[in-house]
Amino acid sequence: MATPAATPPAKMRAVLYDACGGGSAGLKHVEVPVPSAKKNEVLLKVEAAAINPLDCKIQKGDLRPLLPRRLPFIPVTDVAGVVVGVGLGVEGLIVGDQVVAMLKSLNGGGLAEYAVASANLTVRRPPEVCAAEGAGLPIAAGTALQALRSIGAKFHLDGAGSKPLNVLITAASGGVGLYAVQLAKLANLHVTATCGARNMDLVKGLGADEVMDYRTPEGASLLSPSGAKYDGVVHCTVGVSWSSFRPLLSDAGGRVIDITPNLWAILRYILHGVTFSKKRLVPLLVSPNKADLEFLVALLRDGKLKTVIDSRFPLGDAGKAWQTSIEGHATGKIVVDTQS
Ligand SMILES: NC(=O)c1ccc[n+]([C@@H]2O[C@H](COP(=O)([O-])OP(=O)(O)OC[C@H]3O[C@@H](n4cnc5c(N)ncnc54)[C@H](OP(=O)(O)O)[C@@H]3O)[C@@H](O)[C@H]2O)c1
Repeated sequence: MATPAATPPAKMRAVLYDACGGGSAGLKHVEVPVPSAKKNEVLLKVEAAAINPLDCKIQKGDLRPLLPRRLPFIPVTDVAGVVVGVGLGVEGLIVGDQVVAMLKSLNGGGLAEYAVASANLTVRRPPEVCAAEGAGLPIAAGTALQALRSIGAKFHLDGAGSKPLNVLITAASGGVGLYAVQLAKLANLHVTATCGARNMDLVKGLGADEVMDYRTPEGASLLSPSGAKYDGVVHCTVGVSWSSFRPLLSDAGGRVIDITPNLWAILRYILHGVTFSKKRLVPLLVSPNKADLEFLVALLRDGKLKTVIDSRFPLGDAGKAWQTSIEGHATGKIVVDTQS
């Protein structure tokens, strides 16, 4: 339901970097003009922005020369807020709508009081979904959803699930992993998960059937305690070779969905394709789309999915949020409250 929204000011607070590298010390607090919505875009008053490891990798320079497209760059793509301006050609969104949006990776813009989003990656947010929970979704939950679908999971809001596949989720306590555990259970999968000892109860509480501490020999082996072979792996960390995964996979055709693929993983994927291998490594890069975001927001609204929030920071402490992400030990999502 739309509510009246205040006219945006001329200037806004934002956090940017003007060179790659430097970690949190490379972030600068600035005042810049509020952007304006062009054709098929909306201007958002950003209430919450969720940091993904990808945002920090872009700042580090890992994705050069593709990203950042230009400097200075206001990072972060995953936001929630309220529509305060509507560009030409936008249908289905009006000023005052509360929304979740994924900003274009090329443009970023989330660590600011206002940001421009494509209408086709902006979805309405019902009152049951607060901004911080909604902001957690786009990349992390979108990746979890698409990885599980690649394994064969089927999602139906009426409760019907897919056939009971066995799935392993590594780094199940992270931003992607915690959504993946919950979504896998919604799809009726049997979930084996790895995480640190301190998060085992949380992961189990969100539905995982078996949880292993990755720092123990059993956890490091990735073997299911029940002895089941995996139909699929949602692999959310690094440092596990294909030869370690291979014997753990179902002979009928297990797949490892690698969300942090390196060059070797991509070559392995090509090799598996040309040799018609039943067991496969599949690199995955999330493909943002409105239908998935609407589906995920609806799950939050209905209480079928929850965003676990590791920590929240005001915009003035964005550097602390950034550092927390870089350290790689978040339990769920790191959120910046951009209006405080
Ligand atoms: N391909 C794509 O489209 C895509 C999309 C999203 C994310 N990603 C990538 O996927 C990775 C995960 O993203 P994320 O947002 O989930 O990261 P994250 O939230 O930073 O993950 C942190 C969590 O991972 C746990 N962890 C770290 N190493 C582990 C291990 N070896 N075994 C088990 N748990 C481990 C940590 O537990 P402890 O604190 O106990 O160590 C922590 O709870 C990142 O590299 C990210 O860039 C790719």
